[in-house]
Order: sequence, then C-alpha cells, then structure tokens
Amino acid sequence: MPKKTKKEIIRSPKGMHDMLSGDIRYLERIIDMAKEIAEFYGFLPIQTPHLEHAELFSRPLGEMSEVVEKQMYTFRTKGGDLLALRPEATAQIMRAYSESGMNSWPHPVKLFYYGSFFRHENPQKGRFREFRQFGLETLGETDPVTDAIIIKIFYLILHELGFENILIRINSIGDKECRPYYKKELANYYKKKFNYLCKDCKRRLKENPLRLLDCKEESCIELKAKAPQMIDHLCDECKTHFKGVLEFLDEAEIPYMLDNYLVRGFDYYGRTVFEIFIENSESPAKEASNEGKENNHEKAPIAIALGGGGRYDELMAILGEKILPAVGGAFGLERIIFEMKRLGLQPRRVAQPRVFLIQIGSTAKKRGFSLMEELREERIPVGESLSRDNLKTQLNIAAKIGVRFALIIGQKEAMEGSVIIRNMDEGTQEVVMQNKLIEKIKAGLKK
Ligand code: HAM
Repeated sequence: MPKKTKKEIIRSPKGMHDMLSGDIRYLERIIDMAKEIAEFYGFLPIQTPHLEHAELFSRPLGEMSEVVEKQMYTFRTKGGDLLALRPEATAQIMRAYSESGMNSWPHPVKLFYYGSFFRHENPQKGRFREFRQFGLETLGETDPVTDAIIIKIFYLILHELGFENILIRINSIGDKECRPYYKKELANYYKKKFNYLCKDCKRRLKENPLRLLDCKEESCIELKAKAPQMIDHLCDECKTHFKGVLEFLDEAEIPYMLDNYLVRGFDYYGRTVFEIFIENSESPAKEASNEGKENNHEKAPIAIALGGGGRYDELMAILGEKILPAVGGAFGLERIIFEMKRLGLQPRRVAQPRVFLIQIGSTAKKRGFSLMEELREERIPVGESLSRDNLKTQLNIAAKIGVRFALIIGQKEAMEGSVIIRNMDEGTQEVVMQNKLIEKIKAGLKK
C-alpha cells in the first residue's frame, strides 16, 4: 500500500465530508421537525451501533444487491469477526427488536432514528460514502394504515419544512406467494433480450430478475419499458392490501403516482414500496427515478429520491427469527438539505445576540467573564469578544452584529460595580449598578 502524502492525510476520505454550521442549521431544522411529527404519531427514538456483523446486512439486503455486492465497508477485527459499517438501519432495527425483547412491548412497536450510514459509492451529486438518514419503522403490524402512516409522516415532514410539489411514487411488489410467478415472467421476458442486457444484469438475471428493473444502465432502462408489471400478477391478498394503502393516501390527499416498475434495491421488501421526490418543472416526474443521470444535475436537473422505503414482512424470517410484519422508510438528509437550499427554505434560526459585552482593562475583563454567565442564566443572548481590549474594535463588532445595547465595563465601572449601557441606535449612554443590570436590559429589550 503506498504511503499517503502529508497533503493527502489532511484531506477527508473520498465521499466523506465535514458538515459545518451552515448545513448543520438545516440538518437541525429537519431533525426537529421530523422528531416532532414522529413523536406525535407515537414513534420512539432508537440509536443503533455504527458497526454490525456483516451478515446482518448481506442476507436481508440480498447478496446481489448493489449495496452488499459493491458498497459495503467490511473489515476483519483482530478477534476474527467480519464487521460492516452500517449501510442502512432496517436490518439493525430488526436485530434490536429481537435482542432487546421488544416482542413484549405494546404492538405495533414504532421507532425513529437518525445518524450516519456508509456506502462505498461513486461520489456524485446527492451520493456520498458517508451520508445521514432519518428513518421510521413500524414493527408487528400488517394493516395497510401503517404503510400509509409512514408515508404520511414523510410527506408531512417535507410539507412542514416548506416543500411544495412533493411526489410519492408507489408500487406493490407482492409477497412470497405471488412474487415468484412474477419473477418467472420477468425472467422469461429478459431471457429473450439477453444480448441487450448490461454485464451486471446478465449475471443478476439468474439470481433475482427484480434487480433488473432497478438497473441504471441506459440499455436496461429501455428494456424495462415493455417488461411485465407486478400489478398484473398480485394475489388477492396483496391486491387488497395495496388498495387499502392507496385509499388511506387518498383520504389524506397525499399526492402519489403508481410506478409499476418501482422495486427498490433490497431483497427484504415485499408488498408496498415507495420513493419520495420533489417534482421540479425542469425534471418531469416520469424521469424522477432515473438516478443514473444525477451527475448531469447541473445541465438538466433530474429529481433524485429524497427518501424511500416499504414493507418488509419477510425480513425477520430471512434472519432466521419468527415472522414479524413491518414497514418503514428513510430520508437522505444531505439530499433534503440540498433541496432546501436550492428552494430557499429556512434553516433553524439561532437566537442572535441582542446585547454585546465590551470590557477595557484586566479587572473589567474578569468582571465581564462572570457577567457572561449571569446573562446566560437569564437567557439573554449576548455577544462578546473577551479576547479583545480596544474599545473601538469592540464597538465596531457590536455595530456589525446589530445589537440593541452594548454593555461597557471600564476600569472605573469594574471598581465601583457598575456597567455603562449604550443604546446603539440612539448613541445614548446610562450608568447602571450591576445589581440592577439584568432588570434594566430586560426592560430595554422589551421596548
Ligand atoms: P435507501 O433507499 O437505500 O433505503 O435509502 C434511503 C434514502 O437515503 C435514499 O432515498 C437517499 O435519499 C438516501 N441515500 C441513500 N444512499 C445515499 C448516498 N450514498 N448518499 C446520500 N444519500 C443516500 C434504505 O436505506 C432503507 N433502509 C429505508 C427503509 C427503512 N426501508 C424500510 N425501512
């Protein structure tokens, strides 16, 4: 392995980045909103580890899924375990359900989470190797209303953040009774087109023909247009379930579009699958799932999925446990931040200082140092530059921030226990004893 140069060492790894305060204010607004709505609907928080046994993901997600096949960060520990940086949370939540005895909790168990996930993807717009998700999972319920609630909460979060033109693409991929017949039909269709398939799809055809519907290669996208559709092969139970989900979405007036080829990238899904987009006048909805064109975003914007999910009634059984019907989904937080900025939506507002502390001389500095805390305890947002000594410099900073009052402590004030309150708009000053200061500021700020 060639040694990294000094310059390379102080660069973050490809596809991973620092998130600075500007973006974090957006992140906080999304999380605050998402938590508020999720908690209203009875979801409880859960945090799962960043590392898991690699096999927890490989079977449920599918050995042939992009994520397991190409994108999982795995490594052997010194003790010989094969661990993986979590690429998603759904399999983890099922593990946690079983390990933490959630089967004795009132059902359905409803959980929400947020945090970092890792996929060794080719970084491009909206795709990173470390990214953040906010997710919801409802465990132990088959009723279609639970699918609709999950979709409704994702919809509400975006709506309350100020997004318009939210579009849910939805499909049912059947269950283990009817899906095998569809897969056979699909395999027959693709076998006839074998020569036109991309290299990966030729291989995937044997393992799981559903994966072909998810392929981002241009030639495979073209073939998909005439492929058989799952909706024509659903059994009666799946049809009724899907109809139920759509009826609840209609009831809530949630805009959705049936997408007969939506399959999602993981094997654990069954019945409902959905993805969430912001429709964009320049990116017609019919192209919305065409993520392969994301890197052309600048030239011809194509909507990218802000979130996705579905039902995964078979996941627990794949893990070798008792069957547990479940449904959930997750948002990609970087993608939402990107869209909020693009559309001029507001980040979390942080209280701006309304007073500014100015000190001249070492005794005044010590007094100012403690006064900061008195103001904090009274929840008065205050700016400071305790490391500066020059009056003019400090007054300039106060003016730049646009505070109402500057609190000036000089040597004389520090000795006699007073503070000069300077009204920055009017340029007037008043000397106040320190024990009356908080009262005076509060009264002044109210005016
Ligand atoms: P997913 O579709 O793989 O589903 O990811 C959900 C969302 O995470 C995507 O719609 C996207 O916004 C974001 N995302 C995925 N990969 C990246 C990436 N490399 N860079 C940036 N954002 C990304 C899941 O992960 C499922 N566990 C969702 C789920 C929960 N299904 C049922 N319950």
